[in-house]
Amino acid sequence: MSSTIYLDYNATTPLHPTVESAIKKGLSHFGNPSSLHHLGQSAQEDIESARESIAQFIGAKSPEHLFFTGSATESNNWVLKSAVSQALLEEKSPHIITSSIEHTSIISTCNQLEKEGVQVTYLPVDENGRINMEAYSKAITTSTSLVSIMAANNETGTIQPLSQLSDLAKFNGVRFHSDAVQYVGKVPLNVSDIGLDTLSLSAHKLYGPKGIGCLYCADETWLTPLLRGGSHERSLRAGTQNTLGIIGFSSAINWWKQNQEKEIAHMAKIKEHLIKKIKSLSTPVQIYSPKESLPNTLLVSFDNISGSAIMMSLDLEGICVSTGSACSTGSVEPSHVLLEMGLSTKEALSAVRLSWGHATTNSSIDQLINSLSQLLPRLSITSKKA
Ligand SMILES: Cc1ncc(COP(=O)(O)O)c(C=O)c1O
Repeated sequence: MSSTIYLDYNATTPLHPTVESAIKKGLSHFGNPSSLHHLGQSAQEDIESARESIAQFIGAKSPEHLFFTGSATESNNWVLKSAVSQALLEEKSPHIITSSIEHTSIISTCNQLEKEGVQVTYLPVDENGRINMEAYSKAITTSTSLVSIMAANNETGTIQPLSQLSDLAKFNGVRFHSDAVQYVGKVPLNVSDIGLDTLSLSAHKLYGPKGIGCLYCADETWLTPLLRGGSHERSLRAGTQNTLGIIGFSSAINWWKQNQEKEIAHMAKIKEHLIKKIKSLSTPVQIYSPKESLPNTLLVSFDNISGSAIMMSLDLEGICVSTGSACSTGSVEPSHVLLEMGLSTKEALSAVRLSWGHATTNSSIDQLINSLSQLLPRLSITSKKA
């Protein structure tokens, strides 16, 4: 098998070599960041300098608005549950507005909150996966506790109109949260300009390590700790910080700071090349990612051929793609995102997600196309017989 072609960057990204060396260097800073001796303090300095770098990259007004967590899943849980606690403290009925195409870390938390008596509105989307603004303006009231809409979808790459969505929340005096895991890096973002209240981020989608995320929060006074214990993260997220993860996260962000413009252009060029090539295949192709989508994502299907069959056949040739959300791979359930966009179960089960990044070249795309051109006619015959 020739070398692996990795086209699953939305599931996770490889560590960038500069991140790897930063982590290696950080290994000697093993002190507990809460310890007052010099080893503890040097770990604490690493954390605070990372907080500053990341805050600056997203346009936060102060590093104090950033809290390190174990993942974006945790950040999303934290915001949703805090909004409910805050509403209950104010003796109001909690009401959350979200979309029907969110990542499972939002959807399943909302499902659980509903079981506990919280009212949740799941906004519908159009065929491109864009939020239905009419449904949104009908659903929101001045007593809504929180609006939580993802900035970009992990499966289709669809980008939401963040400013417009956030403005409507502001107009009603409602806090606005965005899961920006797939968006940050791939699209320039300034949380202060948009006026976001909270935002979730994850290092492993940005060439950083797994198991480290953060929550941006413009005013933390309404946050309720998910984890209680020590006074870490200003007593809002207990647990000794993952210093090496934070060092890696910061190093990845510093890399993005220097390379973002170039990288976005690179990803967009790859997308152009991929679309041109994919359309030249003899098997009919359907592209589900709309024009307004991430520069690194393309969700497609080929003649109703099973996405899992394509994914497994490509894997045998050393090419890694996904059939949709990586978190739901292994289950045969069609993606909720695609069903919400109006696809039938069969169409949804045919989807293949291609996502790329820094190390992807036109030649990797050409190898993908070459493999597809050989295997699709074969799989098409098998799928028609089935
Ligand atoms: C849109 C989105 N939100 C949240 C997450 C969860 O991130 P983490 O792996 O840091 O929990 C993912 C991961 O795939 C994602 O794509």
